[in-house]
Amino acid sequence: MRPSLCYLNGAFVPLDEARVSVLDRGFIFGDGVYEVVPAYARRPFRLDAHLARLGRSLSTVGLGNPLDCNQWAALLGRLLTDNDPADQCIYMQVTRGVARRDHAFPPNTVPTVFAYSFPFPHVQAGLREKGASAVTLPDMRWLSAHVKSISLLGSVLARQASAEVGAQETILIRDGWLTEASSSNVWVVRHGQLLSPPMDHLKLEGVRVALMDELAASTGLAVRRRPVAEWELRCADEVLLTSATKEVLAVTLLDDRPVGAGLPGPVYAALYAAYQSIKRAELHTS
Ligand code: PDD
Repeated sequence: MRPSLCYLNGAFVPLDEARVSVLDRGFIFGDGVYEVVPAYARRPFRLDAHLARLGRSLSTVGLGNPLDCNQWAALLGRLLTDNDPADQCIYMQVTRGVARRDHAFPPNTVPTVFAYSFPFPHVQAGLREKGASAVTLPDMRWLSAHVKSISLLGSVLARQASAEVGAQETILIRDGWLTEASSSNVWVVRHGQLLSPPMDHLKLEGVRVALMDELAASTGLAVRRRPVAEWELRCADEVLLTSATKEVLAVTLLDDRPVGAGLPGPVYAALYAAYQSIKRAELHTS
C-alpha cells in the first residue's frame, strides 16, 4: 500500500506530515463538524447526501462552507485515487480555525479544512453471520445530536462502555425512549414492521436513514417512523444498526440477552441484500 495522502487547507500532503496549530479551535473546543463518506472501488457512495448534511451541520454551527460541492467531489476523487485499497472511507472535518482561546467566535478566522482516507473497515464475515452484541446506556449527550459535531466525548464514553465488555455498539435511551447508538442509527423490527424513531435534534439523521426507506420499499416492508419505547427495543424480533461503515448490521445480543431468535433475522437478510444491490447498481452507473 502507498503511504497515506491527506488534504489540509488546500494542499495534498502525506498524512504523517500534516500539522495543525495547537490553538486550532477543533483541538481547544471541539469546535467543528465532520463527515464520514463510504467509498467502494474508489467511488463515493451517496456523496450528495453526505455533502448536504455537511452543509446543514456547518450552517447550524455558524460556519460557512469552505468548498462547493464540485470542489469537495474533486478533493475526494483525488484522495480515493491516490490512496489504497479500492474500498475506503473519507473522513472530512471543518473547524472554526486557529485563534487565541476565547469561547465566542473569533472574527476573521480561516476555517481549517482536513480530509483523509482510511481503508473501509468491512464488518468481519463472522460478525455478519452471527450478529453483533450491544449494550444499552442512558443517552447523556448534548441536545443537538443532529449536528455531526467533532465534540464527541459523550459518544466516545458511550462506545467505551460496550468496548469494555467486548460488545460492538452502545444503544442509547433517553427518558425511556430509543434515540440512536454511539455511532449508528437503530432500527427495531416488531410484528413485521420496521420501527425507526423520528429524526429530530436528539439523533443524527444518518445518510442510511433515507436509504433504509428505499430499501424497505424495495423489499415490500413497512417502515413506521414513530417514537420507539425502551421496552419495544427489549421485546424486538430483530434489532438493526446502520452507518457508513456497518452498512446494515444485525444486533443479536442486547445487554447479554438474545434478540428474538438470537440470530440475524429475515428482515436483516432482506435489507442487507437490498443494500448490496443498490450499492452495485449506483456504483455501476455513477
Ligand atoms: N457515524 N448516528 C451517529 C451518532 C453517528 O455517529 C452515525 C455515523 C450515524 C449513522 O450515520 P450514517 O448512516 O450517515 O453513517 C448515526 C460515523 C460513521 C462515524 O462517526 O464514524
